[in-house]
Amino acid sequence: MQKAVKLKDDREVLIREMRRGDLAGSLAFFASLSEEDRTYLRRDTKKREVVERRIREVESGSAIRLVAIAGDRIVADGSLELSGEEWKKHVGELRLIIARAYRRRGLGTRMAGELFLLASGAKVEEIVVKMMRPQKAARSIFRKLGFRQEVVLPDYVKDLGGTKQDLIVMRCDLEALWCEMEDFVAAGDWLRAR
Ligand SMILES: CC(C)(COP(=O)(O)OP(=O)(O)OC[C@H]1O[C@@H](n2cnc3c(N)ncnc32)[C@H](O)[C@@H]1OP(=O)(O)O)[C@@H](O)C(=O)NCCC(=O)NCCS
Repeated sequence: MQKAVKLKDDREVLIREMRRGDLAGSLAFFASLSEEDRTYLRRDTKKREVVERRIREVESGSAIRLVAIAGDRIVADGSLELSGEEWKKHVGELRLIIARAYRRRGLGTRMAGELFLLASGAKVEEIVVKMMRPQKAARSIFRKLGFRQEVVLPDYVKDLGGTKQDLIVMRCDLEALWCEMEDFVAAGDWLRAR
């Protein structure tokens, strides 16, 4: 898929699937994140081998990844990670990160919407998101999208600085998500794609 999308501030980005040629752009995107943003990432995406592995996961089908491009730069990265395990085949884990200069323009919502579309094509029935407690914007956007907080595992993970953090798991079934997205569309909150 490839979609040109106009953001709330009228800037345009192109949302498309990640491909092998995105290695350098992806490394540059993760390198451009603030220390604070990087702290809560699950993997150290400053490392080339980590970014290479993310691309291999797309090629092997264990993850669907989208990027948003502005000019020639990646400004957002969104993923749906699929479990190969039989008992969790219907579950996808969503991850999103938007460049600071592009936040609060609806891009996170739009990337999530495109991932939900791809999820239904991949027979995913339920989406989970995991975040550390300080990631307040994440809780906000997913709550707005219809996710509910399911569990909190106190001090379960360590951020990249080595500090233990509570892990929050939110989930939503895809059908309910579609109802929420319909509300967005009806409210004119869905960004224009051409
Ligand atoms: C969370 C994140 C993906 C949101 O992306 P975004 O493009 O800013 O999201 P949107 O513009 O679509 O916001 C949709 C709604 O979410 C809520 N929201 C988003 N950021 C918020 C913030 N900082 N504070 C409060 N509410 C927020 C708002 O309700 C917003 O709607 P509004 O702008 O009309 O009020 C982005 O802040 C980010 O990349 N954060 C760092 C990484 C992260 O935490 N990822 C999620 C864990 S996987």
